Amino acid sequence: MSNVEFKRHRRLRSSNAMRSLVRENHLRVEDFIYPMFVIEGENIKNEVPSMPGVFQVSLDLFKEEVQEVYDLGIKAVILFGVPNDKDEVGTGAYVETGMIQQATRLIKKEFPDMLVVADTCLCEYTSHGHCGVIHNHDVDNDESLKLLAKTAVSQAEAGADIIAPSNMMDGFVAVIREALDEAGYTNIPIMSYAVKYASAFYGPFRDAADSTPQFGDRKTYQMDPANRLEALREAESDVEEGADFLIVKPALSYLDIVRDVRNNFNVPVVAYNVSGEYSMVKAAAQNGWISEKELVLEKLTAMKRAGSDLIITYFAKDVAKWLAE
Ligand code: PBG
Repeated sequence: MSNVEFKRHRRLRSSNAMRSLVRENHLRVEDFIYPMFVIEGENIKNEVPSMPGVFQVSLDLFKEEVQEVYDLGIKAVILFGVPNDKDEVGTGAYVETGMIQQATRLIKKEFPDMLVVADTCLCEYTSHGHCGVIHNHDVDNDESLKLLAKTAVSQAEAGADIIAPSNMMDGFVAVIREALDEAGYTNIPIMSYAVKYASAFYGPFRDAADSTPQFGDRKTYQMDPANRLEALREAESDVEEGADFLIVKPALSYLDIVRDVRNNFNVPVVAYNVSGEYSMVKAAAQNGWISEKELVLEKLTAMKRAGSDLIITYFAKDVAKWLAE
């Protein structure tokens, strides 16, 4: 081979220490935001059938759940509420006794340095399961914005550290920013679900949050998975309107979009590793078809490599344990 010229890339892969030395991307426990579902009622800890290891937990048992997350060194959680009563206008989203509001107060009292991200949406609270109010069989953008702003302010009043609007109405960042500022919450950042696709990967979440639309789908507000430029338009509007973080959701099939958003904007980028992405791995692992730990670490590292700074993931607790080993 002496007269053939080629590069010896394997030199830098020769041992664990060598690979470690040249590794370009790393996972840290500080990268993770852990999603939690708080359900109305008492003494409830329901495992979500399509999401093994993920539970809907009532407030009286919630402290224990958060304690576990806290002890693992996870610095942030994102909260979703599962109320008993729903109505046409999603009242449960913006009342003081709302599930997110109560859970937020509890966390901020017991774990003051745990960051609470409040998912700001109506779909878990509306009887029809859509993310806003319905007029003429479609979600009314501007009417929904008013309720969304009210929701954000009530979550901030409860002590939320970050407001994360997810209903994909046009102008939601602008309207929420204005409402938060007027209420005196100028220092509360907005983590916008800026780029959110109408995805089949949300199926298991809708079981967990009981938020399946009762008619139609979300395609008039969430994005078409076929589109890439549209993601940049969405992100651009949100940054102009004052978004402090940009979420791309789902993550795994959209890493090209994570990279586009990273390359075009200077705010922290968050990949949402959604429910379906979790369930697929769990199902395969339960069947012994894949090696769960290796696969999860690989795919989350891929999200970092694609350019995300933070990852919202149901695997956060598992990964925190693995990283500590
Ligand atoms: C609320 C919301 C959804 C998810 C996060 N916030 C559901 C949806 O839009 O249908 C999905 C998260 C997941 O699948 O893990 N609008």
